[in-house]
Amino acid sequence: MELTVKTSHPYKIRIESGCLNQVGMHAGQLFPAGAKAMIVGDTNVLPIYGDAVEHALTQNGFSCFRFMFPAGEQSKRLSVVEQIYCALADSRFTRSDFIVALGGGVTGDMAGFAAATFLRGIRFLQIPTSLLAQIDSSVGGKTGVDLPQGKNLVGAFHQPSLVLIDPQTLATLPPRYFSDGMGEAVKYGCIKSRALFDLLRTAGENVGSDPAFLEKMITDCVDIKREVVEHDELDTGERMLLNFGHTFGHALEKLYDFRKLSHGEAVGIGMVMMTRLSEKAGLTKPGTADEIAEVLQKYQLPVCDEMGLEKIFEATAVDKKSNGHSLRVILLKEIGSSLIQTYSREEFSKFCGLKDGMWHE
Ligand SMILES: NC(=O)c1ccc[n+]([C@@H]2O[C@H](COP(=O)([O-])OP(=O)(O)OC[C@H]3O[C@@H](n4cnc5c(N)ncnc54)[C@H](O)[C@@H]3O)[C@@H](O)[C@H]2O)c1
Repeated sequence: MELTVKTSHPYKIRIESGCLNQVGMHAGQLFPAGAKAMIVGDTNVLPIYGDAVEHALTQNGFSCFRFMFPAGEQSKRLSVVEQIYCALADSRFTRSDFIVALGGGVTGDMAGFAAATFLRGIRFLQIPTSLLAQIDSSVGGKTGVDLPQGKNLVGAFHQPSLVLIDPQTLATLPPRYFSDGMGEAVKYGCIKSRALFDLLRTAGENVGSDPAFLEKMITDCVDIKREVVEHDELDTGERMLLNFGHTFGHALEKLYDFRKLSHGEAVGIGMVMMTRLSEKAGLTKPGTADEIAEVLQKYQLPVCDEMGLEKIFEATAVDKKSNGHSLRVILLKEIGSSLIQTYSREEFSKFCGLKDGMWHE
């Protein structure tokens, strides 16, 4: 399956089992013969897939270099990006050369940011290997790193030249990360597609080892992301719909210092919480929150947390979509149909059922 993202720099997304081995052929259509490729990956992914990618690229006449960093979000920082710049400079990369981001969202964001800024911008390919990266972070051109003060605070929009999604790579992804990605897939269904939601709801057991299911699900998710990104490349409007579940999800991640809950888990809880409240406010079709919870549980994701709503509400004050006085939240009318609502802090407190900082049932 091939999709084209029509952004300022249009690019193709190929979704196909085994396509990782065809990266050389695809790169041959984009880059000059003999160009250099820096394959960036972490200590989990590069040892598994680095050789296959390098082999495919060298077969097509590219010279390959590798940059490996310790796996984990803590590597997504400027000091590691500086090491990538140095590796590129030491190997005399020019603007005819390119980076290959081979890995999960951490790799894609960081290698993409290095590509956006080295020599004021060189091109890069995404070969996402986690489910979250395959259905979300590899598409849309958001690149960046974290600061001690917060996640993704430094970054740039830089669209990849190609995204190659090989669902076979998910065979080696640890199960908790697979569930994490399934949370994002449920989110796409919630905001844009009843059909995708039903696909996830009715799928059999062991979807992770069903290539046909994976290809279909990934394609459906990526197609939604493609459409949203095309309408709002720079994230000033419709793209915010992708933040469904994130208002409370981010707050929970922060309250637990990013230790207890993974991002997908926190977002899942956030989707259910927000939908329960909007059902109470009469804005969402009754029963929707239960439906979401049921699907999330099917994929081993939590749907509630013991943290009190007052604390979670307080923690939303630092949400990136908040300007201190108002907050933009994503609500569902029903599964497959979403809207952006702007609330003052006071209005949002009422929406949450809070009065004087207290939670009222
Ligand atoms: N740019 C965007 O639009 C966007 C969107 C959502 C999330 N993100 C970012 O994505 C990051 C999270 O992504 P993630 O969950 O992929 O994190 P990650 O890159 O850390 O990958 C998760 C773990 O899985 C391992 N892994 C990945 N693929 C594997 C495979 N095929 N086999 C074995 N192990 C594998 C990694 O080594 C890592 O340990 C966060 O930094 C987040 O901010 C970016």
